[in-house]
Amino acid sequence: MTTSSSERGVSLGMPELPAPGYPDDVRARLEADAREIIARYPDSRSALLPLLHLVQSEEGYVTRTGMQFCADVLGLTTAEVTAVATFYTMYRRKPSGDYQVGVCTNTLCAVMGGDAIFEALQEHLGVGNGETTDDGKVTLEHIECNAACDYAPVVMVNWEFFDNQTPASVKRLVDDLRAGRPVVPTRGAPLCTFKETARILAGFPDEREGATEAGGSAGPASLVGLRLARGEAAPARVVHPREGGPYDEPRDTVHEPSPTEHLSSHDAPQDTSASDPSHPAGPVAKEGE
Ligand code: FES
Repeated sequence: MTTSSSERGVSLGMPELPAPGYPDDVRARLEADAREIIARYPDSRSALLPLLHLVQSEEGYVTRTGMQFCADVLGLTTAEVTAVATFYTMYRRKPSGDYQVGVCTNTLCAVMGGDAIFEALQEHLGVGNGETTDDGKVTLEHIECNAACDYAPVVMVNWEFFDNQTPASVKRLVDDLRAGRPVVPTRGAPLCTFKETARILAGFPDEREGATEAGGSAGPASLVGLRLARGEAAPARVVHPREGGPYDEPRDTVHEPSPTEHLSSHDAPQDTSASDPSHPAGPVAKEGE
């Protein structure tokens, strides 16, 4: 007689199918939503990514039931759905908290304090990477670069940005989340729960007040590159413009380099064309010229 892997207490990391179905009323509601999503695409299988967000909005993570549902409505195999759901890190594979707190520990954020922030949060919350606090509010995790390096170190909560963080500011942030106090990110609309975020990502309207207007542009450090490319002078030092919010920690000291002090390549324009005779081109022309 053979025993299954679950009977032996062994997890192979793959869902065991067939999965139990949704209750009839839930399935009917999700099918109506799924039809709306699928109608946006010329080929129904293209709707798989938003459908995975849809089922994630139901239970807070992509369950076996959710994957079976996606396979049913799209005419795919559960293996095909599983392959996609397990590839992308935005799909969670186990029950998690209302707020996913992601600390960027990629190179730039790490050296700017991301590693210290992650360590401080582990200690403050009493959880490790991928773990959830006992009250079910906060799941802590490392995240990779979120293309917001201008504002390093960056923390994201349910994919909204909190810029220029410190260990002290993120402790205040998670305390507010756990206490149910309203929290507004540095850029974007007030936070909603992970399930609500998942429904927005599935393509349904973002009904948070001010959500459509909220946003952000490229940071000053990125725009320095653009100015240099246009042949304009860049400031000697980029000063962070967003300090003053509840989770924006003022810098203790802002270093002002003296005229004789060597500036790093981040700080000052470099005359690259003159030092490279094989590439004597001047500043890049404006688009279309
Ligand atoms: S390294 Fe953190 S946002 Fe790029």
